Order: sequence, then C-alpha cells, then structure tokens
Amino acid sequence: MTQDSMKAVVYHGPSKKSLDTVPVPKVQKPTDAVVRIVTTTICGTDLHILKGDVPAVTEGRILGHEGVGIIESVGDAVSNFKPGDRVLISCITSCGKCEYCKQQMYSHCEDGGWILGHLIDGTQAEYVRIPHADNSLYPIPEGADEEALVMLSDILPTGHEIGVLYGAVKPGDTVAIVGAGPVGMGALLTAQFYSPAKIIMVDLDDGRLEMAKTFGATDLINSGSGDTVAQIMAHTKDGVDVAIEAVGIPHTFDICQQIVRPGGHIANVGVHGTKVDLQIQDLWIKNITLTTGLVNTNTTPMLLKTVTSGKLQPERLISHRFSFDDFMGAYEVFGNASRENAMKVIINND
Ligand SMILES: NC(=O)c1ccc[n+]([C@@H]2O[C@H](COP(=O)([O-])OP(=O)(O)OC[C@H]3O[C@@H](n4cnc5c(N)ncnc54)[C@H](O)[C@@H]3O)[C@@H](O)[C@H]2O)c1
Ligand SMILES: [Zn+2]
Ligand SMILES: [Zn+2]
Repeated sequence: MTQDSMKAVVYHGPSKKSLDTVPVPKVQKPTDAVVRIVTTTICGTDLHILKGDVPAVTEGRILGHEGVGIIESVGDAVSNFKPGDRVLISCITSCGKCEYCKQQMYSHCEDGGWILGHLIDGTQAEYVRIPHADNSLYPIPEGADEEALVMLSDILPTGHEIGVLYGAVKPGDTVAIVGAGPVGMGALLTAQFYSPAKIIMVDLDDGRLEMAKTFGATDLINSGSGDTVAQIMAHTKDGVDVAIEAVGIPHTFDICQQIVRPGGHIANVGVHGTKVDLQIQDLWIKNITLTTGLVNTNTTPMLLKTVTSGKLQPERLISHRFSFDDFMGAYEVFGNASRENAMKVIINND
C-alpha cells in the first residue's frame, strides 16, 4: 500500500456529507480485494440516502456503489484478479455460493447484495474494499472506454434487467418509460436490443426528453402539463404493452397502471418511499403482469460486450466531469440536474 490515508465522501446524517480524510481500507477476508478508484459517479440513490430515505446508512459511511479501478491488493482466496488488473465494480456484491446466487438473484446474496455505500464503505473514495472480489468485479477488456463502463456498475443493468427484461419487451411492442433519468435512459438504450415499435418517454424535464429522442425514443410526453394518461393513450391503440416506472412516486406508478393494455406488463424500477394504490378493480380483468426488483447485475457480462463492441454507447449519458478534489461540486450539479442540464456526472481520480 502506497499510503495510509485517503479522501472519501462521508455521510454524516441527512443532508450532511463532506470530503474527509479517512484510513485506506485493507483486505479483511481472504476473498476481499482492495481497489484503487480511477473513475466513479453519483447515483440518484445517493441523493435518496442524503435525504434520509435509506436509514440503514449510518453516519460515517463512505458513499458510492459505482466505479472502475485498479486492483491494489487481494486476499489469499482471490484467484481471478491480481494487483494491477483494471476492473469494473458491480453495485451488487455476490458470494456466488448461496441459494440466491445459484439462482443468479445476486441482489439477495446472503453475504452481499447491495451493500457498497449502504452497509459497508463505498466507491466515492480513493480506495474501496470489495468483498467476494472474484464474483463482484469484472475484468476490463483492453482498450475499453472506462468512463463508459462506469454506466455498467448500476444504471444500465438496472434499466435492462428490472425494466426491459422483467417488462418482457418484444419486437413490435409499444413501450412507455416513465422517468428519463439515468435509469430510464438505461432502459431506453437496452430496450432497443428487442426491437420495440415505439418507445414513449415521459418526464417533466424537456431537456431530458430531448436527450431521450437522440437515444431512440419515438414519442416524447412532458407530464407537467395536461392529462398525461390521455396523452400517452393517444399514441397507442389501446394502451402500452410495457410500462416501465423509473421515478419511484405514487403518481408515476398510477400512470403506469392506467396505460397498460390487456396482457401487458408493468415493470416497477423506481425506489418507493411510500405506499401506492393498486387499482386491482380495473386490473384483475386485464391479464397484466406486475414486476418489481432490485438489480441483480446478472446481465453485466453481456452488457460489457455490447459496450466494448460499440453497439451500446452509454458514454453519451455523461454530461459533466469533475476532479476528485471537486467531489462536492459534482454533488451540487447532480443534485440540481434539471437546472444544470446534468445526466451522469463523472469523477476522475487520476
Ligand atoms: N430497482 C433498482 O434496482 C434500482 C437501481 C437504481 C436506481 N433505482 C431507482 O430508479 C429511479 C430512477 O433513478 P434515476 O437515477 O434515473 O433517478 P433521477 O432522479 O435522476 O430520475 C428520475 C426522473 O424522473 C423524473 N420525474 C420526476 N417526477 C416525475 C413525474 N411526476 N412524471 C414524470 N417524470 C418525473 C425526473 O424529472 C427525472 O428525470 C429512482 O427511484 C432510483 O432510486 C432503482
Ligand atoms: Zn445506484
Ligand atoms: Zn450469495
């Protein structure tokens, strides 16, 4: 180890965070690796934590669950990686051995799941300790765009697995994605693997809708004006085949249950802090499927290939870049995304 202390974004309770000097993490278990962070980012979920919506995050916790880096040290039981290897960090830690991991439901790993920047210290630091390194890190192919790969830690697999795959998007489908944040954009980009006929993007922010159009959205609806449900229905024959909820509030869930056509799917992706009213008196007769989920990252290896081949270009989601010393500036911009025209902010630690 080259140094004993490092800079990291530390949570100090609701609305409080700072760039502090803290000890560099060390390998604690034989299956751990310590990774030097090269590039990281901020997620909408970090903003939820700072609002106090995720009480499991305790004071003193280093935030962040996305990033790429270089292996600094490994425990004796790590066999896939060695110091110097460049790696993509998954937001989901998985042991690879428990019942859930055997079902590829890594989000519910009995010794992992979403723990980074949540239950253990995260990636918004110069170094991070990654448990179960063999299963929770991916080697970065030679010559890959590492900033683009940061989008694979969380937002692309989330949009793809919990939005597109759980929503069962098929060729010819009409898909509505409610919420054009990074996760909704991840669903928009990956939905196109399956050739839907129409992708209707719904948001309050015209800037984000315009960006969605450049990513392949066919119809744009600003839900800030008029009757959103009627506007979406007007773009369809009798509703959408797939409604993807990528906001996480009762109003947008309600839109999804009103626009789904018989036989269709509602795929909820948003993190909800309050209950919603399920309109079962209307839905029981419609043969719909409703899914929920925390990202598993089981499709990350496939997504990695599509990004390295250039088929998918998630680097287009990057709107701002910051140096590590200006991490608080990155939070200021990402926390005021509409005002700042921000999508994904990148923080480099060169
Ligand atoms: N299920 C999972 O595994 C998982 C993983 C990551 C993130 N998430 C969740 O997914 C959701 C989206 O994440 P994000 O990072 O894109 O968040 P974000 O806050 O950047 O994006 C949300 C978007 O919703 C829009 N919006 C807000 N109110 C709206 C309304 N009434 N109508 C239409 N659009 C509205 C906002 O303008 C914004 O563009 C969040 O709830 C996040 O916590 C879930
Ligand atoms: Zn996240
Ligand atoms: Zn497991």
